[in-house]
Amino acid sequence: KKDGYPSFMEKEINDQPDAVAQTLLGRSDIDGNLTLDEIRVDPAVLKSINRIIVLACGTSAYAGQVARYAIEHWCRIPTEVELSHEFRYRDPIVDENTLIVSLSQSGETMDTLMAVRYAREQGAKTVAICNTNGSTIPRESDAVLYTHAGPEIAVASTKAFLAQITAAYLLGLYLAQLRGNLFQGQIKDILAELAKTPAKIATVLANSEQIKELARSMADTRSVLFLGRHVGYPVAMEGALKLKELAYIHAEGFAAGELKHGPIALIEEGQPVIVVVPSPRGRDSLHSKVVSNIQEVRARGAKTIVIAEEGDESVREFAEHVFYIPETSPLLAPLLTTVPLQIFACELAMAKGYDVDQPRNLAKSVTVE
Ligand code: M6R
Repeated sequence: KKDGYPSFMEKEINDQPDAVAQTLLGRSDIDGNLTLDEIRVDPAVLKSINRIIVLACGTSAYAGQVARYAIEHWCRIPTEVELSHEFRYRDPIVDENTLIVSLSQSGETMDTLMAVRYAREQGAKTVAICNTNGSTIPRESDAVLYTHAGPEIAVASTKAFLAQITAAYLLGLYLAQLRGNLFQGQIKDILAELAKTPAKIATVLANSEQIKELARSMADTRSVLFLGRHVGYPVAMEGALKLKELAYIHAEGFAAGELKHGPIALIEEGQPVIVVVPSPRGRDSLHSKVVSNIQEVRARGAKTIVIAEEGDESVREFAEHVFYIPETSPLLAPLLTTVPLQIFACELAMAKGYDVDQPRNLAKSVTVE
């Protein structure tokens, strides 16, 4: 069942090219146009929505945060991401013009189920993005878009995360197509770029020996900080969550821009800081701002570990370790930048002798509120 891997976690990390490819499969026609037949919500209703709320917990909520950047950019619909367990208790404004998108690997997370039920009672339309056929959240939603990552056995989520981002992007493109926010040619280009992602993930996996070596050398680490910006921000938080869950190391993910508003006080000699650097071809100045952040923490003694795009030489000078990911468009980068962070956490946990499939105190699906 583990396909020769010592753990489900390693197998599932290595399953990721397939998880993304399967989630894309059958969702565009021969001409490369998007076909999302399973969204059985009346197109007139989807045209009239004026707000999207993404509901999820844990890793799934980070996938939602990544997707928010793409959905708002492509569809021009105000989009919020909220932790399911916070949502219901703040008397949220939800009506028939609100689209609720829930993200859940298991489809059984009680907090998310209760939040979806509540939103439906208020008249909202609900679309579930889910990895488990026939589970409760999809059954209680108006429509479902399945991620086809295959069964995820390890308690910490990996391949479901990449599949969720992929599916949420497809939903964003579908809405943009329906509402006329993007030209058909633009949608085809993005789909073509998405189709190249599985091979790029495979490249990241094939080049993972260096990051594994680094992880093994850091088994005594007490705390690691992760920085990112734009879509790299939720990726940083996901990297931190993986390290907490698997290696029981204190870890925090910050928006790099927030550094000087407080977290920089944490930096002392030897503090490891992992930085997810945006593409130099992305939004103006974001790249150089993050490179400045690397310099700032380095100047205060941080051990800087950088995930950057292939060919980005500007980071070398300030980084003790650089791991390159293949070039891709900025919004698709999380499908690549997350992978070295998962490998880092998994390898470090194994170096400490921990069970990476069954971390202490955690359950695969949280079916109580
Ligand atoms: O099944 P779900 O996607 O609804 O689960 C949500 C979280 O419980 C889950 O992502 C959790 O955070 C994992 N332990 C992350 O690795």
